[in-house]
Amino acid sequence: MYQINFPLLGNSLIMAIVILVHVFFAFVAVGGIVIAFASEIIAYRKNSAYHDRFAEGYVKFLSEMMKPGGVLGVFIVVLLISLFPEFTKRLYNFFFWPLVLEVAMFFIMMVATIYWKVTWGRIQNRKFHLFVGALAALSAIVSALIINAAHSFMLTPGKYFEEPKLFNAVFNPTMFASSTHLLIPCIANAAAFAFIYALFKSRKAEGENKEYFAWLAKYSGTIFAAAILLQPFSGLSFLLKIRSVNGAVFNNIINGGVSKFFYPMVGIGVLAVSCAAVYFISGRKTQKILLLGSLAALTAFSFGGYTRERARKPYLIYGHMYMSEAFAAEPLLSAKVPLESGAAAPKRTVNDALSSRGCLSCHKYKGTGGTFGPALDEHLKHHPKEELKKFLRNPPEVMPPFTGTEEELNKFIEEISP
Ligand code: HEC
Repeated sequence: MYQINFPLLGNSLIMAIVILVHVFFAFVAVGGIVIAFASEIIAYRKNSAYHDRFAEGYVKFLSEMMKPGGVLGVFIVVLLISLFPEFTKRLYNFFFWPLVLEVAMFFIMMVATIYWKVTWGRIQNRKFHLFVGALAALSAIVSALIINAAHSFMLTPGKYFEEPKLFNAVFNPTMFASSTHLLIPCIANAAAFAFIYALFKSRKAEGENKEYFAWLAKYSGTIFAAAILLQPFSGLSFLLKIRSVNGAVFNNIINGGVSKFFYPMVGIGVLAVSCAAVYFISGRKTQKILLLGSLAALTAFSFGGYTRERARKPYLIYGHMYMSEAFAAEPLLSAKVPLESGAAAPKRTVNDALSSRGCLSCHKYKGTGGTFGPALDEHLKHHPKEELKKFLRNPPEVMPPFTGTEEELNKFIEEISP
């Protein structure tokens, strides 16, 4: 298999851009369907024409938007398989059944949304129409939760590597905290979108339309402001959960390489939250300030997405998955030789030793291995053993630290020092 390097942007950046754009569509779709469904219920209960008009209009817009969103989703799968084949093979293998369910949910969401849209106002049985909306909303939420299970697993694999069961992967330690932290911005983004649209339209509208867009700005503005006020709480509980589960990832976010995305997110997020607070305090009059808040929130979400992406990268995508005992038991790139060699067993080569610890997934040695880190031939020759030991315990952020005991480390150093 040859290594594909994406021209100009590089693999990680192209991945980040495509994922962020897709996530933006996906968040608006999930939150939008939920808001439209809730609005149709209000329309039905209160016989409110505005709620109904908004719900119908939003569902129309969403069913159009799902097309480019879906195409980008497929592109993400293609990019993952092509650019990160080893990683993707394993991830898709663990998550096979959830991913099958994900495809089914996505399909139900598409069909329900389209049916919901085309039967609007044309169907006698309003309760059945609401049922279709509920189906669309539920399948949208479930598909978001499934993808989030895979994402949070990459951040905190939890017990999975000791006990490789699907249950442990899906219900990993940050699954619940991160789900809340994801669903709130779905609602906030979708409402922000409707709010910006309403402000924009109300400038030129006249008569009845002007009244409607003024109502819509207030309605969607209130939903956005309420959602964004909740987000710091979900964020804090997510962060504290990460700290209790994996101190290294937490440190990487607070002090390490990820902090350059984390602190801007917090700063811009604080601005968004303050604007929402001012909006409520002013009796929902300060729409321009809320507009600033919604733009700030959308920006903070991009930084947040990138923070999350970066936080797990060194530890899982390249790290944990290769370094764990689970994979050490099936060396990736060289012959299987028992870890505990008895007297009769053949002596392990340097390649065997490196492979058993996952080093070759990132480094080449004697022509075998990955290209993520520098080739090790020269380094292993020239580094004094003590220095190597210290380095393996305390490597730079991009490389996972050696996790074994002192004895295992000494033995490993002997094996890899030619
Ligand atoms: C996640 C990928 C990854 C894994 C796995 C990994 N490394 Fe690294 N390693 C790197 C990267 C990237 C660098 C370069 C770091 C830098 O220059 O800041 C590096 C640097 C090094 C260096 C120092 C090279 C120098 O510039 O002096 C040594 C030695 C090393 N790794 C050995 C190992 C060993 C031994 C293992 C297995 C226990 C291992 N690495 C596992 C990614 C990895």
